[in-house]
Amino acid sequence: MEIFFPFTNADPQRPFVVGQLGQSLDGRIATISGDALDIGGAAGLSHLHSLRANVNAVVVGAATVIADDPRLNVRLVPGANPARVVIDPQGRIGDEGRWLAGDGARRILITTRNKAPASCDEFIKLERRGSGFDPCEIVSELFKRGMKRILIEGGAMTLSRFLEARALDRLHVVVTPLIIGSGKSSIDLPPIASLAEAMRPETRVFILGGGEVLFDCDMRSGG
Ligand SMILES: NC(=O)c1ccc[n+]([C@@H]2O[C@H](COP(=O)([O-])OP(=O)(O)OC[C@H]3O[C@@H](n4cnc5c(N)ncnc54)[C@H](OP(=O)(O)O)[C@@H]3O)[C@@H](O)[C@H]2O)c1
Repeated sequence: MEIFFPFTNADPQRPFVVGQLGQSLDGRIATISGDALDIGGAAGLSHLHSLRANVNAVVVGAATVIADDPRLNVRLVPGANPARVVIDPQGRIGDEGRWLAGDGARRILITTRNKAPASCDEFIKLERRGSGFDPCEIVSELFKRGMKRILIEGGAMTLSRFLEARALDRLHVVVTPLIIGSGKSSIDLPPIASLAEAMRPETRVFILGGGEVLFDCDMRSGG
């Protein structure tokens, strides 16, 4: 199915930020041991690659690099590889990994330190604000470096922080007909007292192949 990606903002001075998660019917993104590689079916994976092909940068948290050693490139659809950005405040990911492949895509580390792996092209040094980096600051630093469309690919903690900071324009959740029953939960935000405080974004729904369903949520709507 052809899905239209309206990945632009009315305001050219602001980047467009889309978050994604692939989750099971019971709202899990990985098993308890961190196995997430087969959570999406063929249609969901192809959608993820289409997202990558439509952005200038793809951002993941340190735990995803440690668990999955992801390539973060475009393989299943035509398109150029986006810049690969890893948020690793404490230097946990080490000097190796498939995200550092020398395929011409920019490799950028976001850190509190003064150094990055040798094969990294750039690093962005940020101060922690409370428990971590301010996602709006991350977006603004990437925009300054020419990245106008940014994908927050996960994991759950990274995406949840961007959601909480209202730093997402859109959220794509692909639900796979799979019940894991335990493991890492999807979005996790501070508690709210009543459903009146819940985010209720305007949402389009696309039925993908293999029983997978894409929820395309407009995060600038619905409070
Ligand atoms: N199903 C999917 O769509 C999908 C997508 C991606 C990943 N995954 C799975 O998700 C799991 C990992 O997810 P996760 O939630 O545990 O972790 P994660 O989001 O991959 O990484 C979290 C870590 O990244 C750093 N980080 C992220 N945002 C930060 C911020 N604003 N400020 C400071 N540090 C920040 C922190 O590193 P430090 O702890 O070093 O401070 C944090 O602990 C893996 O099992 C992976 O396979 C699933």
